[in-house]
Amino acid sequence: MTASSLLASKTILIVGLGLIGGSIARGLKREIPSQRIIASDLNHAQLLAAKEAGDVDSIGELSELCAEADLIVLALPSLATAELLPTIAQLCNENAIVTDVASVKGNVQASAESLADSFSSRFVPGHPIAGSEKSGYEASTPQLFLGRNVILTPLATNSACSVGLVTAMWRALGANLLAMSVTRHDEVLAATSHLPHLLAFSIVDVLAKQETSDDIFRYAAGGFADFSRLASSDPQMWAEIFVANRASSSRVLQAMIEALQALKTRLDGDSPSSLAAGLEAQFSGAKSTREAFLNNHYNLDANKKMSQNSVTFVAGAHGAAIPKVAGRVRVPGDKSISHRSIILGAIADGRTEVSGFLEGEDALKTVAAFRELGVTIVGPEQGKLSIIGVGRNGLTAPRKALDMGNSGTAMRLLAGLLSAQDFNSELMGDESLSKRPMARVVEPLCKMGAEIESESGGTPPLKISSASLKGISYEMPMASAQVKSCLLLAGLYADGVTTISEPAVCRDHTERMLEGFGYPIERSADGKTVSLSGGHSLKATTIDVPSDISSATFFLVAAAISPGSDLLLEHVGINPTRIGVINILRMMGADLEVLNERVVGGEPVADLQIRFAQLKGVEIPEDQIPLAIDEFPALFVAAAVAEGETLLRGAEELRVKESDRLAAMAAGLDSIGVESEIFSDGIRIVGDPSAVFRGAEIQSEGDHRIAMAFAVASLRASEPIVIRDCANVATSFPNFVELSAQLGLEIRVE
Ligand code: S3P
Repeated sequence: MTASSLLASKTILIVGLGLIGGSIARGLKREIPSQRIIASDLNHAQLLAAKEAGDVDSIGELSELCAEADLIVLALPSLATAELLPTIAQLCNENAIVTDVASVKGNVQASAESLADSFSSRFVPGHPIAGSEKSGYEASTPQLFLGRNVILTPLATNSACSVGLVTAMWRALGANLLAMSVTRHDEVLAATSHLPHLLAFSIVDVLAKQETSDDIFRYAAGGFADFSRLASSDPQMWAEIFVANRASSSRVLQAMIEALQALKTRLDGDSPSSLAAGLEAQFSGAKSTREAFLNNHYNLDANKKMSQNSVTFVAGAHGAAIPKVAGRVRVPGDKSISHRSIILGAIADGRTEVSGFLEGEDALKTVAAFRELGVTIVGPEQGKLSIIGVGRNGLTAPRKALDMGNSGTAMRLLAGLLSAQDFNSELMGDESLSKRPMARVVEPLCKMGAEIESESGGTPPLKISSASLKGISYEMPMASAQVKSCLLLAGLYADGVTTISEPAVCRDHTERMLEGFGYPIERSADGKTVSLSGGHSLKATTIDVPSDISSATFFLVAAAISPGSDLLLEHVGINPTRIGVINILRMMGADLEVLNERVVGGEPVADLQIRFAQLKGVEIPEDQIPLAIDEFPALFVAAAVAEGETLLRGAEELRVKESDRLAAMAAGLDSIGVESEIFSDGIRIVGDPSAVFRGAEIQSEGDHRIAMAFAVASLRASEPIVIRDCANVATSFPNFVELSAQLGLEIRVE
């Protein structure tokens, strides 16, 4: 399905043919020439001009046109929109879907919610971030929304098909869709749009009132021109915006006044040298914030991007005394479960509410991909998000390659889902992901009938053509939850039964979550075989994502290697297919207790308490490998201070993670003075309970878990450990440095 095919048969009424309304009409006509567009505006000249230009098919009074429309777009300012809604509710037909473009949403929402549910369920508030200082129909252009963000703020009562139609309109106009709550929207806009306009209007005002104002304007430098551009925006519209968004504007203005006051105090009182140093520090901070923003939001050239993204950790400046790791924290949500909550929520019927979602870059890539597939996802806001499911056949064709960033999980799981859709798609990734093996999913998917092209080495990008799949029985050559999940997702759409067997038990979040969404699956008693038949639907549910045991591991090891430590990690997921790290640490003699066990949304959760105890080296049982697959970098650090040797064999999968983790860890351990030997499938680490690691420079190879493992190792180092290329820590554990500081680890970010 494409956005245009959803819209083509509809009649769209645009109320208000200014810059935004005119651009919607022109853009739609260009994209879908047969699209019927009708328009109403108090400014008759504007209407006539649009009709003459062929941008609209019919013009007239609201009372004449409203009943004809399938989709009504109120392209008016906030106050006018809120005021007009009751009239629209009366005039429109009972199935018409209504949206708006107002830049403040609180008052519009209040107006909609005062009307009957039968109307408010069909009113989907929206806001294109595409305005400019220009206004009026003459300024409108069909490309206005191309590549621009449009924020939807769906109401709790909105039906999925209302949101779907509004989404389709903005997609046809080339916009990127985001969604957030009304409160968040108004706060964000107060800060990013309303405050700058308020300052622009007042700076011109202040300067105009200066005695020398003529001179100021005559000799106006570029800075003034840049700054005052905003002050040429429509005064009436902006006055109304501040009436509508008074409270949020006042809050952010207060913060601005305090910042300006602090600057003034500094100008009046600081010595020249401290004034210069203070201002320079403040300005550099602002400059790098802006560069980081541009870097993330616009495609700067790759080299520049790399250098700006390079992050170094300088860990452990504590000298000889080893800090204690103590306190009580909750690490962020589980990455595997966060990805899956989006994927299954997107194709379910109804609205799935997620809490505890990991706002790390990997899971956010999955959110962005599903937005591009036409799904409205509200949030995340403080770990909560709401996914308005489009149903099993409701995804729409992406308009560009889906960028999965660093995330192997996202790429492999999406490969399964996308193989079975009625549109083509492409999956790409960053430098690390572009080297990772995809044949493990491409081969079995092709056995199911999928059509996928990869690079010659079986690596991304993956070009997926639409195909019909049939169920297969597949014995996975490796214990990979990603491969299993990929095939299960393809199996949802396949004809017949898909059965997957794994050589050793690996994580089962997909199976548990499918059950949570009411999808029938069968699992063997030993947990090694799962099967499902295609064709059933998923029902939206509520998901509480537990904390990620893989992130908790870094602090478990931190406490396990630092004498005097006593740490409590709250609400950690202890799914039996993930607790290899608990089993292995206990085998090594760790003082680790699992407290307050409970089940939350189908996943077992507990608080983990760990106190320092002398560890001993162990031979890691092979069946624990898939259960601890992401935890080995940290476990190797524990092994380095254990008594005796630790041996791991049968873990060749570690060679194909975000980096070759056996090689990266062995090199890093060697640099800090730890003896190890690597094999094709494992490592032997020679532990020393009295070890004091050397300060060294470590290459993390851009692998988040290598970076965090050596940050933890710094607890036992005599000098700082400098860890390069740590930006990807944000993929799985965005607040790692802050939480580390709370627990007593010192990490400086450069
Ligand atoms: C994951 C499975 C594991 C793990 C990865 C996340 C998942 O990979 O390493 O970080 O969410 O299914 P494999 O299943 O390929 O070993």
